[in-house]
Amino acid sequence: MQQSAALARISPSPTLAITSRVLELKRAGVDVIGLGAGEPDFDTPDHVKDAAIEAIRAGRTKYTNVDGIPELKAAIVAKFARDNALAYTPDQVSVNVGGKHTLFNAIVATVEPGDEVVIPAPYWVSYPDVVQFAGGTPVVVAAGPEQGYKLTPEALDAAITPRTKWVILNSPSNPTGAAYTADELKALGQVIARHPQVWVFADDMYEHITYDGFAFATIAQVCPELYERTLTVNGCSKAYAMTGWRIGFAAGAPWLIKAMAKLQSQSTSNPCSIAQAAAVAALNGDQTFLATRAAAFQVRRDLVVGMLNAAEDIHCPMPEGAFYVYPSIAGVIGKTTPNGRRIDTDEDFVGYLLDDAKVAAVQGAAFGLSPAMRISYATSDDLLREACTRIQTACAALR
Ligand SMILES: Cc1ncc(COP(=O)(O)O)c(C=O)c1O
Repeated sequence: MQQSAALARISPSPTLAITSRVLELKRAGVDVIGLGAGEPDFDTPDHVKDAAIEAIRAGRTKYTNVDGIPELKAAIVAKFARDNALAYTPDQVSVNVGGKHTLFNAIVATVEPGDEVVIPAPYWVSYPDVVQFAGGTPVVVAAGPEQGYKLTPEALDAAITPRTKWVILNSPSNPTGAAYTADELKALGQVIARHPQVWVFADDMYEHITYDGFAFATIAQVCPELYERTLTVNGCSKAYAMTGWRIGFAAGAPWLIKAMAKLQSQSTSNPCSIAQAAAVAALNGDQTFLATRAAAFQVRRDLVVGMLNAAEDIHCPMPEGAFYVYPSIAGVIGKTTPNGRRIDTDEDFVGYLLDDAKVAAVQGAAFGLSPAMRISYATSDDLLREACTRIQTACAALR
């Protein structure tokens, strides 16, 4: 028995691999600071936990509708109206086992061999792999720090061909934290509008984590002409600190939602009934804590960006959202560590940081744009200060 050709086209998630490595080191007693994980350190709010406990006690522990209970679909319809001025009906809503599952369902349900999917880089690690699993071709378009890590309309236009099926937009971005303004989205939308075969996968997972009064916008809202061919994707994982509950969702064309449900009916079936009850409470309950948490993240962002820019040879742009920074480490390439190892790649550099500074970051190569690294600042201010001090010391020790 061999693995299938579809599986051989993909790799294990590099970010989950770093998280496992940090756990191993910690178990072995090493004082390592993990800045690799993509999840908030905040806890799931109590009212959300209470709703889940209540659901268990009330016996809501059985199979549900494949792609979401009516109460949750109604809460999602209300969320899109409230936050995004987008009008959807329940038959336009799909609930999945996390945002990653939403991506998997949408791509596997629509992409055929030869189809192209435009993915701006740096990208969230799962986009190209899921496209490749489906037999499609990721068309990676570089969007480096010189353009604020944002795709330009010109580069997008040049990347689109008659075989383009989807363009993936992720704002605020994992791994850079860059977020598109309404005007920037409109300019990209004008390009996409000229190509009727192209659909937009708008990944808004970090919508509620933005800074300095940034006005979040999503493409179906600012380009109504693209409403019919946009899948607007969001979830509970990041905003409500619910990564373990596994609830992602999307809204778009009814036929696409049905196609995703068909696939889901033969794979996971419904998302966990208890997690769905929790998600109803998260979406319908108090939303004021979202701004409080974003403010706490902003303090950390400022701390990390300031300290990294004070490190020799690191250049760290200021992100608009999410809880990641993506500094360029071009300055350390070609230097030598105190042990005499030459740094040729960003993988070499994050290996040096892990071995010598005991700080875990993820190499830019994993996200398709080098030389850089991703640092997640979803951890305490004290740990961030200590980690950045270690990075500064490690950079100063290079020759
Ligand atoms: C950009 C982006 N989209 C979607 C997801 C999926 O989130 P989850 O599957 O945990 O709900 C993530 C998680 O890291 C992400 O960073």
